[in-house]
Amino acid sequence: MQIGIDKLGLFTPNTYLDLVMLANARGVDPDKFTIGIGQDQMAIAPLSQDSVTMGANAALDLLEGESRDNISLLILGTESGIDQSKAGAIYIQRLLGLSNARTFEIKEACYGATAGLMTAYDYVAAHPDQKALVIGSDIARYGLETPGEVTQGAGAVAMLVSAQPRLMVLEPETSIHSADIQDFWRPNYSKEAFARGKYSTEQYIEFFQKTWADYRAKTGRTIADFKALAFHLPYTKMGLKALRTILDEGSETQQAQLLERYAESTLYSRQIGNIYTGALYLGFLSLLEHSTNLEAGDRIGLFSYGSGAVSEFFTGILQPGFEKQLAKQKHADLLANRRQLTMVEYETQFQTELPEDGSEYEIDLTMDNAPIILKGVKDHERIYMTR
Ligand code: CAA
Repeated sequence: MQIGIDKLGLFTPNTYLDLVMLANARGVDPDKFTIGIGQDQMAIAPLSQDSVTMGANAALDLLEGESRDNISLLILGTESGIDQSKAGAIYIQRLLGLSNARTFEIKEACYGATAGLMTAYDYVAAHPDQKALVIGSDIARYGLETPGEVTQGAGAVAMLVSAQPRLMVLEPETSIHSADIQDFWRPNYSKEAFARGKYSTEQYIEFFQKTWADYRAKTGRTIADFKALAFHLPYTKMGLKALRTILDEGSETQQAQLLERYAESTLYSRQIGNIYTGALYLGFLSLLEHSTNLEAGDRIGLFSYGSGAVSEFFTGILQPGFEKQLAKQKHADLLANRRQLTMVEYETQFQTELPEDGSEYEIDLTMDNAPIILKGVKDHERIYMTR
């Protein structure tokens, strides 16, 4: 039986910051951000968007024209959870009307959505007539005037996993490497992540090399067997650094093609920034929606990395008609219809938080046009609404 990704959905908030403006405000050469780091813009979430609403909005995008029947597993991967006990996925199941789904949240930094995808794969293998909805949704926050500031972002990707998928069949061989390291973490008392930036970059590359070498040894496949490699993208230079370490295993033509595909995979991330759990799948979606050089039967490699750390290299084969599963124009409109924030608006939005003393709060919704929004807080509960 063939199992894999049937469809992908995307959501990102409707406000963003231009990173040349950020560079100028921070007294940094803009080329450092746009070339050195490889980011042009980053999405900034208003108070009315959190991991629940963004995840639900991404899933709405995906479910347009799809039946909800047989979706009996719903997994949210996030490291921007809104509750220590109740899964954000539960709110999402109500907002989407999926009451027959086994519903829960997974956490392992940016690996969460991949953990969800692999769990969904096993679930569908056991229940081939059923489908799973896997969502990666996050707000990446490092803090104002920190080295990580330029690598923030916000958004969500949703994936429908099924038997006989119309987009990409996942192949059974995967390669995993995990180790207890302290490269990036966010203690319960902190709104912002702590990152050992250079160390995390080194570890990401080392984990990639380990899983790639292990995958090659296990399968006998080489770089020539891949039409494209998609990477977890905390910033777009990151995946490129990893890709470059294995490029010389291919011919000059293969190297040029992989670099071209890589550039296509970075186009959404350049405009949205790091979305943690969804970042690999944002790259994968960007590749599919921008490349004119991919065809059915092509093998794509995907490298997932979650700090802490767990990494997995896995692969898939594009299916006949996979283009029909994409929504390039809709996603172009989502990005084109965003509003650029001024530095003052960005810093104000960044510092505005929901009350933590139990008081009621009503969010100003006038600037947020998303279908699913957070309205406010009452009696210690977040109040979500579908428009
Ligand atoms: N023109 C062009 N390039 C320039 C430049 C200029 N004027 N000035 C500097 N650069 C280049 C540098 O040469 C460097 O390039 P290389 O990495 O290719 O050598 C690049 O710009 C970045 O410069 P620095 O290393 O000096 O940047 P920094 O110290 O400000 O930190 C960072 C960069 C480590 C990515 C930091 O933004 C950060 O800590 N980010 C958060 C952590 C992170 O994203 N880690 C990634 C791996 S962990 C992970 O994957 C999980 C996750 O999602 C977080």
